[in-house]
Amino acid sequence: MYKINDNYLKLPGSYLFSAIGRKVNEYAAAHPDKKVIRLGIGDVTQPLAPAIIEALHGAVEEMGHAETFRGYAPDLGYEFLRTAIADNDYKARGCEISADEIFISDGAKCDSGNIQEIFSVDNRIAVCDPVYPVYVDTNVMAGRTGTYDPVKETWSDVIYMPCTAENGFSPEFPDKTPDLIYLCFPNNPTGATITRDRLQEWVDYANRIGAVIIYDAAYEAYISEEDVPHSIYECEGARTCAIELRSFSKNAGFTGVRLGFTVIPKDLKCGEVSLHALWARRHGTKYNGAPYIVQRAGEAVYSPAGREQVKKQVAYYMNNARYILTGLKEAGYTVSGGVNAPYIWLKAPAGMTSWEFFDYLLEKANVVGTPGSGFGPSGETYFRLTAFGSYENTVEAVDRIKAL
Ligand SMILES: Cc1ncc(COP(=O)(O)O)c(C=O)c1O
Repeated sequence: MYKINDNYLKLPGSYLFSAIGRKVNEYAAAHPDKKVIRLGIGDVTQPLAPAIIEALHGAVEEMGHAETFRGYAPDLGYEFLRTAIADNDYKARGCEISADEIFISDGAKCDSGNIQEIFSVDNRIAVCDPVYPVYVDTNVMAGRTGTYDPVKETWSDVIYMPCTAENGFSPEFPDKTPDLIYLCFPNNPTGATITRDRLQEWVDYANRIGAVIIYDAAYEAYISEEDVPHSIYECEGARTCAIELRSFSKNAGFTGVRLGFTVIPKDLKCGEVSLHALWARRHGTKYNGAPYIVQRAGEAVYSPAGREQVKKQVAYYMNNARYILTGLKEAGYTVSGGVNAPYIWLKAPAGMTSWEFFDYLLEKANVVGTPGSGFGPSGETYFRLTAFGSYENTVEAVDRIKAL
């Protein structure tokens, strides 16, 4: 008789977005005359930029001719895209990352979930609290997290690093010693960032204790302040302790197109064993590459026209972020994020829990956000709004909240 991987049974239901969906549907059904504005889920709304569409058309055309048709992509991804990434995202910022240290994928969700496979099940993970849930859930599936406490909503073998107003939503070094440290900056859900000096301290810490930092920089394009690093490789010593994850979803609207990449420097070694070689083996065995046409679309993001156009899209969303941030401040809310990230993190007023505030906003302003408690215990009494809506909807939502 076969057995299943019963680690999956330990996972609590993915309550957050299904609970939000159910509540919103119930409300909309009971109040068909109300216009509900959704600023909850972190998906983009602007169409793909013209330079990207043009590259997609061009690549589709190539696929229709024997001379230019492409089949399986090279294991690590096409050279043209890896070179564009190395030159623009790394060399241009003074980071010593070469094209053959970049692995093209279909997005950061898969990479952030799959990367744990190359590490022993005995490794201790440390995560921020609140956190993007994929990091923890995929370690649960692998059997690395111990037992779940449904009251505290925490796992016995996970090291949680609270990110609170007191520490500026930037974690302290944990009391227990981790092996794998997940960091995400600019952060989902808090919208917080980390300074270059503080990230350097994390790199020094990881090198000192022999840990690996898995650095999720999916929101890098939203950084506007000088002292916020775009890549962990801006820090000295990161090549021996850090893996970086990137995505084309939020900088160029590829959430439905699918493209991302992982950087593993060749200096990152466990004893004599290269993590780059392990990931190359895993990638080559389990993955057959992002589509050629999508990789050409990714290349277009780095063309002069593409860069200009995606910069405008990011500016559009950040204009929304500014409107939310100033509007809510004027209305007396305690708010953070929204300066280097498309997420605004606000404190629920009058002692409300995250879910009480969710219900209040839905009923009184017909605005949907995400309860902070869904991202971890330290998110309780907080609430996340995203800047990914249209400008018109964003303005209407904020004005309704201000009028409460
Ligand atoms: C922190 C973080 N990492 C990764 C992802 C997923 O990115 P992708 O669309 O490339 O899979 C998201 C998506 O919301 C995210 O918030």
